[in-house]
Amino acid sequence: MTTKIEARGISSEFATPSGPMLALRDVDLTAQAGEFVALVGESGCGKTTFLRIVAGLLPPNRGEMRIDGVAVTGPSREVGIVFQQPVLLPWRTAMENVLLPAQVRGLPPEQACAEAEALLASMGLGEFLDRFPRHLSGGMQQRVSIARALLLQPGILLMDEPFGALDAITREQMHLDLLNVWRARRPTILFVTHDIAEAVFLADRVVLLSPRPGTVRQVFEVPLQRPRVPDQRFDPVFAATCREVKHAMQTNGEGEG
Ligand SMILES: Nc1ncnc2c1ncn2[C@@H]1O[C@H](COP(=O)(O)OP(=O)(O)O)[C@@H](O)[C@H]1O
Ligand SMILES: [Mg+2]
Repeated sequence: MTTKIEARGISSEFATPSGPMLALRDVDLTAQAGEFVALVGESGCGKTTFLRIVAGLLPPNRGEMRIDGVAVTGPSREVGIVFQQPVLLPWRTAMENVLLPAQVRGLPPEQACAEAEALLASMGLGEFLDRFPRHLSGGMQQRVSIARALLLQPGILLMDEPFGALDAITREQMHLDLLNVWRARRPTILFVTHDIAEAVFLADRVVLLSPRPGTVRQVFEVPLQRPRVPDQRFDPVFAATCREVKHAMQTNGEGEG
């Protein structure tokens, strides 16, 4: 179940007290079915705005967003979303939180329960189904929210700085767990981060957005083999790719403002 994302000439504008502000300008971006694409750029360059447009939560002012060739007109169950904060309901257990999207849509519980259990187990939470969020660590809570986003087997998973609030060691484990679940289910992933090393470690391609207005500055292929393993972070190719993205990002700032 994989799905292609095509953005063509996407522009997005917000009204502000001092007049309209262009957040995105003419963004072209394609993610092939099953591809893992990272979107990087400074804070405020429009990454979240772009994800909201892909998710059908915000219409673009210009341009077209297509999912498998069909124009996006609103939210769809083809798209799962993971935010920086896990946003779990505190009065529901891990399992009950993961089941929420099925309940909201009135889907039969048996199938949803089996799927939720399988997802939680594959995220290493098989023993924690009945725990409430307050009894789970930040990393475990974020695993629950990833399982919830995948419950309806979306073709697309959008992730907005999902590991930004986690410590480095937890984050490295999350990277491996995410890559495992991606390999098993193969959704198309659009992963937003401002951490270049994270983007390079996870993605097939890294798309760099330049700030104000956000526009695609450069796209980098990541020439690292899969499956990715932690030691690849010491690979000279890894360092060289990170350096390339970093330099492009810094060149960005110059000549502006
Ligand atoms: N709802 C909104 N109303 C007005 N301005 C907004 C709104 N959402 C985002 N912006 C502005 O659009 C720009 C891009 O924001 P955002 O997409 O959140 O960037 P990023 O996720 O890369 O940090 C920022 O300047 C931000 O202040
Ligand atoms: Mg953001």
